[in-house]
Amino acid sequence: MRCPMVAGNWKMQGTRASVAELIEGLRRQELPEAVEVAVFPSMLHLSRVSDALAGTVLRVGAQDCAVQSEQGALTGEVAASQLVDGGCKLVLVGHSERRLILGESDSVVVRKFAAVKSTGMTPVLCVGETREQREAGFTLAVVAAQLAAVTDALGVQSLHNAVVAYEPVWAIGTGLTATPEQAQAVHASIRAQVARLDAEIAEGLRILYGGSVKAANAAELFGMQDIDGGLVGGASLNADEFGAICRAAGM
Ligand code: 13P
Repeated sequence: MRCPMVAGNWKMQGTRASVAELIEGLRRQELPEAVEVAVFPSMLHLSRVSDALAGTVLRVGAQDCAVQSEQGALTGEVAASQLVDGGCKLVLVGHSERRLILGESDSVVVRKFAAVKSTGMTPVLCVGETREQREAGFTLAVVAAQLAAVTDALGVQSLHNAVVAYEPVWAIGTGLTATPEQAQAVHASIRAQVARLDAEIAEGLRILYGGSVKAANAAELFGMQDIDGGLVGGASLNADEFGAICRAAGM
């Protein structure tokens, strides 16, 4: 049995005041015990959030990290080892906003994934196709290539204690959600690809769906066989809405 996960990606949002308010709201939520819940604040707020949520079931993750895991001369970057020191347990790797807006290549994503793994934190590898790629019929091929970049370079064992998040780019922040059937088809394909390399790792691999997840559509998505929870953007900035999504994952 895979333990479902709901992760809130706060992206480049929040002030000291709004983050404090969000934390208060999260602390008030009744969260299901059988669901792992994590939030991913900006680097600026990360250690404050981690301190404020210490002693709760909520875990804290980072949205990115440097390609090298150890501290060093790399202006503006944050090393995975520093994230561990800041109370971080997970790191998003290869979010489409970084791939497409900041030009992050598969090889950079692989190096970051390896850096996270080397510290013992959990990488959350984000994959997904653009609207144009879907319309051209390339969805499964695009996602397979993004996943294969990691397994080819680091081996399938690197997916042990890792998480994959399928986030169709056209569904991110648009209010358009993949239908449960569309998402399930991609999740099943991801799991089958991993199973061809290692059946046990495939069975244990959590695959989250992301893209306009909200309380109103979460239960239907999470009810699909290969959807093990969600990576939530906009809706994670509202504590009550996020709490409701977490509860949907526990049903
Ligand atoms: P939205 O939930 O705002 O569509 O964002 C999804 C996402 O990119 C999470 O990483």
